[in-house]
Amino acid sequence: MNQQAEPFLKNLQDPDDFTQVHISRPHESAHLHVSGRATYTDDIPTLAGTLHAALGLSSKAHAKIVSISLDKVRATPGVVAIFTADDIPGVNDVGPIIHGDDPILADGLVQYIGQPIFIVVATSHETARLAARRAEIVYEELPAILTAQQARAANQHVLPPMKLARGEAGTKIARAAHREAGEMLLGGQEQFYLEGQISYAVPKDDDGMHVYCSTQHPTEMQHLVAHALGVASHNVLIECRRMGGGFGGKESQSGLFACCAALAAWKLLCPVKLRPDRDDDMMVTGKRHDFHYTYEVGYDDKGVIDGVTVDMTSRCGFSADLSGPVMTRALCHFDNAYWLPDVTIDGFCGKTNTQSNTAFRGFGGPQGAFAIEYIMDNVARSVGEDSLDVRRRNLYGKTERNQTPYGQIVEDNVIHELIDELEATSEYRARRAAINEFNANNAILKKGMALTPVKFGIAFNVTHFNQAGALVHIYTDGSVLVNHGGTEMGQGLNTKVAQVVAHELGIGFNRIRVTATDTSKIANTSATAASTGSDLNGKAAQDAARQLRERLSAFAAERFGAGQVSASEVRFAHDRVVVGDSVVPFEEVIAKAYLARIQLWSDGFYATPKLYWDQSKLQGRPFYYYSYGAAVSEVVIDTLTGEMRVLRADALHDVGASLNPALDVGQVEGAFIQGMGWLTTEELWWNAGGKLMTHAPSTYKIPTVNDTPPDFRVRLFKNRNAEDSIHRSKATGEPPLLLPFSVFFAVRDAVSAVGGHKVNPPLNAPATSEEILKAVGAVRAATAAPRR
Ligand code: MTE
Ligand code: MOS
Repeated sequence: MNQQAEPFLKNLQDPDDFTQVHISRPHESAHLHVSGRATYTDDIPTLAGTLHAALGLSSKAHAKIVSISLDKVRATPGVVAIFTADDIPGVNDVGPIIHGDDPILADGLVQYIGQPIFIVVATSHETARLAARRAEIVYEELPAILTAQQARAANQHVLPPMKLARGEAGTKIARAAHREAGEMLLGGQEQFYLEGQISYAVPKDDDGMHVYCSTQHPTEMQHLVAHALGVASHNVLIECRRMGGGFGGKESQSGLFACCAALAAWKLLCPVKLRPDRDDDMMVTGKRHDFHYTYEVGYDDKGVIDGVTVDMTSRCGFSADLSGPVMTRALCHFDNAYWLPDVTIDGFCGKTNTQSNTAFRGFGGPQGAFAIEYIMDNVARSVGEDSLDVRRRNLYGKTERNQTPYGQIVEDNVIHELIDELEATSEYRARRAAINEFNANNAILKKGMALTPVKFGIAFNVTHFNQAGALVHIYTDGSVLVNHGGTEMGQGLNTKVAQVVAHELGIGFNRIRVTATDTSKIANTSATAASTGSDLNGKAAQDAARQLRERLSAFAAERFGAGQVSASEVRFAHDRVVVGDSVVPFEEVIAKAYLARIQLWSDGFYATPKLYWDQSKLQGRPFYYYSYGAAVSEVVIDTLTGEMRVLRADALHDVGASLNPALDVGQVEGAFIQGMGWLTTEELWWNAGGKLMTHAPSTYKIPTVNDTPPDFRVRLFKNRNAEDSIHRSKATGEPPLLLPFSVFFAVRDAVSAVGGHKVNPPLNAPATSEEILKAVGAVRAATAAPRR
């Protein structure tokens, strides 16, 4: 029975001998993605009798509904039913935190153009859509507030204002050698997931409801559907195999679609699918919050900040949704990588008659950090020094100047060495000289460059969200099935979790299959968000796999060890189990363990340690650790047309000891391009009546492959997480979205070259061609020689 010891045994003492982590492997569904065989929610074969729903939307930004006539809708051939707010058996609400301000269907009052008022159910998707447009609704219009500044002026907010302060910023600014004050705007961003929102609801036996939903948060969907239907959570099962992107847009806002599909299915007792087309999706759902800032800063001759105050106002739309936590993260990321001794940060969540803004990659973090980068950029130009030098002088120290405004000590700071490395590999100084030379010799084209750092806190601010569960089943043939509470949206979470389990059990990756996320398997999960997916679910799956390995070790020691081997000496590697001199195939151990009645499945759980947070004081340790990064971008602008090209981008990003470098590089590249789009071409534009006019790719310009910098160098920084994270890796999903700040500030540098770097260009984001041209004009006007 015992096999010959194989050559690999010689190295078994070396823990690096077998590994399934810290190695690149393709996404577990890559072969399906590229061949069109990956099943998204809309690809699930529909059951006989499936009906299709569409939403009837408000055409007014703020109005009372005087009357609704749905006769023409009902008369459309193929229409089966219409549902309004009155038909909801439970609670008419999809608010994830604040309950009661976020109706599923408008009830008497509409608060933005695009707000769903009724559901049409028909025999086909097209019929439902056509019919939905035939409603005759009489409105009594009310005054509408559209922008963040208007909301601020009217003191309209979805949540009370927030303040995070340390020291005496006002006094420090007043005493500083130099001061300046200013304001700027940062636009919002549409998530533009390639697969839109979709839910397919299938009624089940005895008041059950099974909803296939493209969502980052199955548990939240379960709660919302249960409340809407007026049933207990255990009646509702939410399932999501994968999303074609979520980017935060499917964290809370998949709820409306899940509830509408479930409501129709509940009433009609047949399966109902709701898949809005792209325009409706963009009209209905919220986006990244746009921000307006005013600030005042005091600094010394070298550009070192003494004190700074910033006042941020976000456009939240008509309801709170996740706007509170988004603002909290903005407040906690205003410092970015910088020590700000005396600081006051105000946050105002403006209530507007627009889509309810929500999570988007970075979740307010990018909006917070953008402000300090803007200020840093101004300060550097004002003291006449290279912005990299000024940024460096303000960085958090390693052992002092290392406490954040919210009280957490920055213990794992690697930003200094990271920037050193990037400055060298990107040839920053030589290229700066070349750019100066180029600009001196070109009147029309101007080049610019910037290096910007990132420090991003990892964990949900709200402590209790930082938990996760997993299930690992080993079948008698030695194949393994893994289920966890996270969702797969393209980021590669399932791949990383499968790697962790394969590593723990010492088996090949191809033995592992990860199944759809399902609320009946893992209960009470958190959203796959805040970049914590692999941190949380990886640890939970590791816990489950470890329990199995320990059980199997004890069994194997007894069965194969001839009384000479203890359980702790049993090794799992290369699809084999090594017990002293015996080497037994994994599947043989499993088959024998089954016969010996050993439990071959296990659950696992994880709760992130060390966290605490006082939301009322905005103090604590909200983050387990920080992720770091930096990027250098070089751009050229045409001062006659405002056109811009990114010529080269170098990014160096810290993911700790990467679980899967290929996936992580992909995340960094994707986040860079997505953030670049946000800051340069993606412009959301509402007309004077409050209608979003950029509601399709024809008018809303996301980056294409042609916008990728022709010279694009993404590398991972060599590091290990100082905290005991899953195999010392770090989260990768969101932090690199801040890297393309370097693109925006390179554009600003190029614009400033027009005036010989003497004035701070009034450039807002996104830096579209129009915005660049305007800023060039302003710089020219400010630096023109005065006429006599
Ligand atoms: N990558 C892809 N391909 N698709 C996505 O939707 N979402 C981002 C990021 N990367 C996203 C993505 C966001 S907003 C988050 S919070 C993280 O992935 C979530 O996954 P993770 O926690 O497993 O990294
Ligand atoms: Mo990501 S914005 O936390 O879903």
